[in-house]
Amino acid sequence: MHTVHGRSTFTPFRGWRTLLGLGICLVYGWAANAQPAAATGGIKTGRHAAVVNPTDTWTPWWEDAVIYEIYPRSFQDSNGDGIGDLNGITQRLDYLESLGVKAIWIAPFYPSPQVDFGYDISDYESIDPQFGTMADFDRLLSEAQRHHIRLILDMVLNHTSDRHPWFIDAASSRESRYHDFYVWNNGKTDKAGKRQPPNNWISLFGGSAWEYVPAVDQFYYHMFYRQQPDLNWRNPKVEQAMFAAMHFWLNRGVAGFRLDAITTLFEDPKLRDAPALGGTNAQGDPALSDVYTNNLPEVHDVIRRMRSMVDSYSGDRLLIGETYVPRTANLDPWYGGSRQDELQLPMDTLLGMGSKLDARLFRQHLVEAETQLHHSQPLFVFDNHDNVRSWDRYGDGVHNAEIARIIATILLTSHAAALIYQGEEIGQVTATPARVEDVRDPIGKTGWPKEKGRDGERTPMQWDASDRQAGFSTNEHTWLPVTPNYTTINVQTESADPASLLS
Ligand code: NOJ
Repeated sequence: MHTVHGRSTFTPFRGWRTLLGLGICLVYGWAANAQPAAATGGIKTGRHAAVVNPTDTWTPWWEDAVIYEIYPRSFQDSNGDGIGDLNGITQRLDYLESLGVKAIWIAPFYPSPQVDFGYDISDYESIDPQFGTMADFDRLLSEAQRHHIRLILDMVLNHTSDRHPWFIDAASSRESRYHDFYVWNNGKTDKAGKRQPPNNWISLFGGSAWEYVPAVDQFYYHMFYRQQPDLNWRNPKVEQAMFAAMHFWLNRGVAGFRLDAITTLFEDPKLRDAPALGGTNAQGDPALSDVYTNNLPEVHDVIRRMRSMVDSYSGDRLLIGETYVPRTANLDPWYGGSRQDELQLPMDTLLGMGSKLDARLFRQHLVEAETQLHHSQPLFVFDNHDNVRSWDRYGDGVHNAEIARIIATILLTSHAAALIYQGEEIGQVTATPARVEDVRDPIGKTGWPKEKGRDGERTPMQWDASDRQAGFSTNEHTWLPVTPNYTTINVQTESADPASLLS
């Protein structure tokens, strides 16, 4: 985390933060081909299309796409429990189609204890009841296809929930067949005879990154909360199991994945102490270099195999990466450099997640994105569910509305694909809780008051002014409060106003 305008910004990795064979291809390829022709927007789908007719220039569907991020808890509640759900997304497909978005990325809706609001998954092949059922998912998928919208799922490969059956078993005995699915170490014994973690690594969410489990007399590593144990990607069975989960959804017909924390799958095998950078982070822990926990070379081998797997499906399935990097050129390896055999769209947050509205810096980055990436397609991101909204980061408190128009113009007129986070299109603000007792995001509870957490950018979508829940829910007690400015900042009002940000 680092602090921008007195508010925290989630920059995890800057400061802290088989081909399957022709047979399977033919069997499973139907899913994407099943999309109506119109869903391809007239563009040839399938990389094989270029082979069939070499005179055509093959362009992937995402080349000029707007991809819209949905944080399902806060998008639309269809059953009045105060929490958004899959049926709520289905209800709003007309709106999404009217925006012209080609795909929606939906943050995790799998079964989860919700410690990190879905990023702690306890079953990769099912739906958490609070978000709906598999039938609801299938309906959303087919209705979305009817609206020419693809579904991109969030895939969390770095860690599972500590309530995942694999981890429960792994933590019960060193003999468990799942023990080696996670990163374990005996740790050290200090002079007083007390067991200590093997090194100084800290969790991005605060405190030691190691948690002791008496049943196995070992520590496990967790980059995020202790309820999010890291998977051991040095174990080939982990790759098999996670790829199987990806096949499950690809076979159902999703268009691809946004890969959570993809740069941190591997850790230094020697578990060397992280060099101190000096000072402390927002959680009050020592600021450490991530040289031993982020961006290890092995991750690229996994991604190349994943890309081959995804490419074995027809219909141009897409891999988007959560790739926070310090410089434009650092994005290039995530595409696979000149080979372009890794992620098609590693997220570029360099343009959009700075804090300074400076034309010179923006121009410099646009030029770099055109010249330093082997002509790969950039994906510009200004907003997401982890960061203070661009409205507040770039806004000066007086001209925020004008500045939001500048940002929208840059985002939507560059050569890059564009990511829009729900609410960005209407100018929703970051509404950070004023009192610690109102905070829902655990990092806001532990980091208060320096780190107030991510609730501010996760408040409910503002649809209309019909009720105090802004059309988000019929329940007065929404999981996070609706921001009071919903009376004027909402989809319905802005749709009727030709001068609005939305228009
Ligand atoms: C990045 C996700 O966007 C964030 O919300 C989550 O807390 C971490 N990864 C851990 O999965």
